[in-house]
Amino acid sequence: MAFSKMMSSLSYFSLEGFLAVALALALILAHLPSSNAQDSPQGYVDAHNAARALVGVGPVTWDETIANFSRTYASTRVADCRLVHSGDRRYGENLAGSTGNLSGRDAVNLWVSEKVFYDYNSNTCAAGQVCGHYTQVVWRNSVRIGCGKVRCKNGGTFIGCNYAPPGNYNGRRPY
Ligand SMILES: *[C@@H]1O[C@H](CO)[C@@H](O)[C@H](O)[C@H]1NC(C)=O
Ligand SMILES: *[C@@H]1O[C@H](CO)[C@@H](O)[C@H](O)[C@H]1NC(C)=O
Repeated sequence: MAFSKMMSSLSYFSLEGFLAVALALALILAHLPSSNAQDSPQGYVDAHNAARALVGVGPVTWDETIANFSRTYASTRVADCRLVHSGDRRYGENLAGSTGNLSGRDAVNLWVSEKVFYDYNSNTCAAGQVCGHYTQVVWRNSVRIGCGKVRCKNGGTFIGCNYAPPGNYNGRRPY
């Protein structure tokens, strides 16, 4: 079984340049087995920290104030499930969606899958590709996260993670 999955990230600090990505990317991935742990705070944190450790970046921790924001915002998308950003400039924000039941861990891994498109030396994405979700995940200074998930009325999933301090500053490397 396969679900259609989409994602979107936003940099509030760069009006142009490769990190100014707010594109939705549609991907088809195999459906993976689910468990509650994959939607738990630890599931989101572990998926972030695994990707960060691979490039020598310290861990994130869960922040309930941020998570409350993420959950509250996610709940406003129940009716349409669209990957529309909150527009709140206090936080970086990665969004992911699915026509089925996407787990929190799988959402993070969807963002991390952009790693192959990111070139550290030039600090750019491969031509025609998006990698800003990945750079937010591994952004060194973004050490506090919160995430929220809702199942939408149409049966899909909306997931958002928020980051503080926000990452994806234009012209800076994530680490
Ligand atoms: C959706 O996925 C989550 C996490 O993988 C799981 O805990 C939950 O039971 C699933 N819900 C349904 C309705 O299958
Ligand atoms: C969570 O966010 C909502 C909406 O902004 C707010 O009304 C509520 O007080 C918050 N709860 C906590 C525990 O921060």
